[in-house]
Amino acid sequence: MKRVLLTGAAGNLGKMMRTSLADWASELRLSDIETVDDLLPNEEFVRCDLADADAVMALVEGCDAIVHFGGISTENSFENILSGNIKGAYHIYEAARQQGVKRLFFASSNHVVGFHHRETLLDANSPMRPDSLYGVSKGFGELLAQYYYDKFGIESALVRIGSCFPKPLNRRMLSTWLSEGDLTDLIKKVYAVDRLGCTIIYGVSNNPSTWWDNRHAKFIGWTAKDSSEVFEHEAYLEEERRDPNDPEVRFQGGVFASAGHFED
Ligand code: NAI
Repeated sequence: MKRVLLTGAAGNLGKMMRTSLADWASELRLSDIETVDDLLPNEEFVRCDLADADAVMALVEGCDAIVHFGGISTENSFENILSGNIKGAYHIYEAARQQGVKRLFFASSNHVVGFHHRETLLDANSPMRPDSLYGVSKGFGELLAQYYYDKFGIESALVRIGSCFPKPLNRRMLSTWLSEGDLTDLIKKVYAVDRLGCTIIYGVSNNPSTWWDNRHAKFIGWTAKDSSEVFEHEAYLEEERRDPNDPEVRFQGGVFASAGHFED
């Protein structure tokens, strides 16, 4: 890859992927509303608020690919979600169109489908059932990406990331965990495949228990290698067992589904 724009570079996944993708891109343009420092020789930093259309247009200029991690990553006020995720996604796609970027990795979320029960196996054709305003905004991003594909041929991987942390933080994450290595491989595959189209991919490792089926994305050739199995018997997860009828346990979105409506 030549010049890759990584938005959300100051965040958890941004920091992770800076390291894992270091040898993959000849140049990484890092962006965030927060400062990113300790730049490597092949990295540059551009501070940019995704809500600022002109700034995003300038940010995207000269980039060959966009890995879009930037924005609000949990439930928040509608105003913040509007700025970071709804306007942000629109500005990124519109800049991609005007600046000639042909393929994006869009960090969507499992919270687009968080109100499905855990007994339901979902695939790319399952209806969206967002569990939060945050999930709604990721659904907007997915639809926007589909529109930019159908009208302008801009390809996207719509990656409904499960839970990408060094290890599962709770019992739910035994099913939703995505390892750093599997995320890295997925990004590389998304850019290596000849045709991508606009494809929904569940960003999840090869865990023993899963709620998501990636058969519609098999053509990409990505196989998750890691598994949460190695963490299954950790004491902190055993201690967390709770009533199976608790909405936090019934729904795939966990606490996002059981929480009340976000109030400022
Ligand atoms: P994070 O919250 O650590 O990072 C997001 C970054 O976006 C932050 O550095 C923040 O400063 C930046 N940002 C927020 N609003 C902005 C704005 N208006 N303009 C410019 N930058 C802005 O989130 P994380 O965990 O790194 O996630 C990255 C992406 O992946 C997010 O889009 C998130 O929704 C998605 N995701 C992550 C999951 C995970 O397990 N980490 C699970 C599902 C989805």
